[in-house]
Amino acid sequence: MTSGELLLEVEHLQTGYGDLKVVRDVSLTVRRGEITVLLGRNGAGKTTTLRAITGLNKTYGGEVRYLGAKLGEVPAHRRVARGMSYVQEGKRVFHELTIEQNLLLGGFSTRLKKRALLEAVSEIYEFFPILGDKRALPAASMSGGQQQMLAIGQALMAKPQLLILDEPSQGLAPSIVKEVMERVHALKAMGLGILLVEQAVQESLEISDEVSVVDMGRTILAGPASTISLDQLQDAYFGVGTAS
Ligand SMILES: Nc1ncnc2c1ncn2[C@@H]1O[C@H](COP(=O)(O)OP(=O)(O)O)[C@@H](O)[C@H]1O
Ligand SMILES: [Mg+2]
Repeated sequence: MTSGELLLEVEHLQTGYGDLKVVRDVSLTVRRGEITVLLGRNGAGKTTTLRAITGLNKTYGGEVRYLGAKLGEVPAHRRVARGMSYVQEGKRVFHELTIEQNLLLGGFSTRLKKRALLEAVSEIYEFFPILGDKRALPAASMSGGQQQMLAIGQALMAKPQLLILDEPSQGLAPSIVKEVMERVHALKAMGLGILLVEQAVQESLEISDEVSVVDMGRTILAGPASTISLDQLQDAYFGVGTAS
């Protein structure tokens, strides 16, 4: 459980939908106790990359290694069982179920006994106090930011080593974005490795260790967050440096 240990290695990944290859050459790494942020314009291939990492889409070429082992055709549910949790775009919680029921469902894959499950739930309440306060209310009664925290809490119930978050700040007010980012940052201290896809460039850079920028299905810029400037990012996003 050493911090800094490689959790995830994506090398020259190619993936897509059926005959349609949308990701052509994406590489990134995630280390334990660190955050890697995957940036890029709308339609660049970020979500598709996450779907291949989590086993929802097939890998056509290149490689995904998790804890040193090639994942190949390992099905999605087996990846969850090995400690890979994925919060998809758009806070997918069950609106009609209570906050607590949502969390318990998140722990389903662990096959924990009831008592251990309830213990895991109370750890989530410690981490996200608002979820504890509202535990008996339907998820639909919560704000967008709170539902995002519930979606993250649900993923944490599976006891992940690698947490994959697709645009957790989507549609949230700026003050709430900061709050969500602060909680994501706090997860590092718990020893998780985090792969974060974000549109909130500045906010996500502040909490990230590693950056990878993808455009048209290819990694066009990558490196430690401390060495990548906003100017470089702007060039990468808008092609300022290459415009004639
Ligand atoms: N289910 C799908 N079937 C076919 N093409 C898709 C599907 N989902 C996304 N795409 C295409 O893949 C490309 C990358 O999409 P996506 O990975 O969602 O981008 P991002 O998350 O970076 O905004 C886009 O051109 C998009 O239209
Ligand atoms: Mg996306």
